[in-house]
Amino acid sequence: MDYLNLTGKTAVVTGGAQGIGLAVAEELAAFGVHVVICDIKEREGKDAAEKITALGGSAIFCRCDVTSPAEIKQATDTAIKEFGRLDILINNAGIGSDCHATDELTDAEWNRMMDVDLKGPFNFCREAVPHMRRQKYGKIVNISSGGGIGGMLFLAHYSAAKAGLFGFTKSLAKELAPLGINVNCIAVPTTLTPATTFYDYDSDWQEELKLIPMGRIAQPKDIADMVLYLVSDASAYVTGQVLSPNGGKR
Ligand SMILES: NC(=O)c1ccc[n+]([C@@H]2O[C@H](COP(=O)([O-])OP(=O)(O)OC[C@H]3O[C@@H](n4cnc5c(N)ncnc54)[C@H](O)[C@@H]3O)[C@@H](O)[C@H]2O)c1
Repeated sequence: MDYLNLTGKTAVVTGGAQGIGLAVAEELAAFGVHVVICDIKEREGKDAAEKITALGGSAIFCRCDVTSPAEIKQATDTAIKEFGRLDILINNAGIGSDCHATDELTDAEWNRMMDVDLKGPFNFCREAVPHMRRQKYGKIVNISSGGGIGGMLFLAHYSAAKAGLFGFTKSLAKELAPLGINVNCIAVPTTLTPATTFYDYDSDWQEELKLIPMGRIAQPKDIADMVLYLVSDASAYVTGQVLSPNGGKR
């Protein structure tokens, strides 16, 4: 029995050129999904698609900034043209930030964070949902952060954008459940990706490790495994949920 029922489905993975998005793209492709990698990093995105294809998977790269409705429409149209369907949307693209006291945050920093980390997923859902509605099938996973649950010191704009994704996910899930579309969210913990290479091994990582009962920092595959579950038939009755694959941290 094909328990996951993913073979032949089509997925868009935003921010799929590196880090968590790349791990998600690779894992979905390994389970027979056609993957459209959307990112602003063109060289890394093309390399990722070529690597997946060389391993026998099905992937293409599409340059797409999630703050641009026009580029999102183009990416969605490409997915439909190439693969005939759009079954799965992984809203993973996101930016972090330097730490700022909240009263020193500029409008530009606040707005940029909201535009990419919160409005980006909205932009993409708005374009993808009509296709899913027509198919009476769809899986949407929004990639948020544990920081949206617990807050993060001097990262109020990041935490606010990521917490916003929880409300967005839960509301959209209620709206789309009758249409056969599941919408869920992952509260990602600190994970070893290019975005966290600035962490200092001796101080930052050791402090983080003290908070994790499992005694190791998350790898991108830990998050990709959760995505795999949420886009498969194994999670058919799961929608509007925030899942936290965090080694028991909270
Ligand atoms: N790594 C962590 O510790 C961690 C913790 C919590 C949440 N997250 C979240 O997980 C997601 C992936 O994080 P990561 O660590 O892999 O980051 P990363 O920086 O390694 O990768 C993010 C990718 O998103 C792309 N991207 C950024 N802005 C974009 C835009 N406007 N349009 C399209 N693509 C864009 C980047 O080019 C990059 O390829 C993000 O949403 C992030 O906030 C990560």
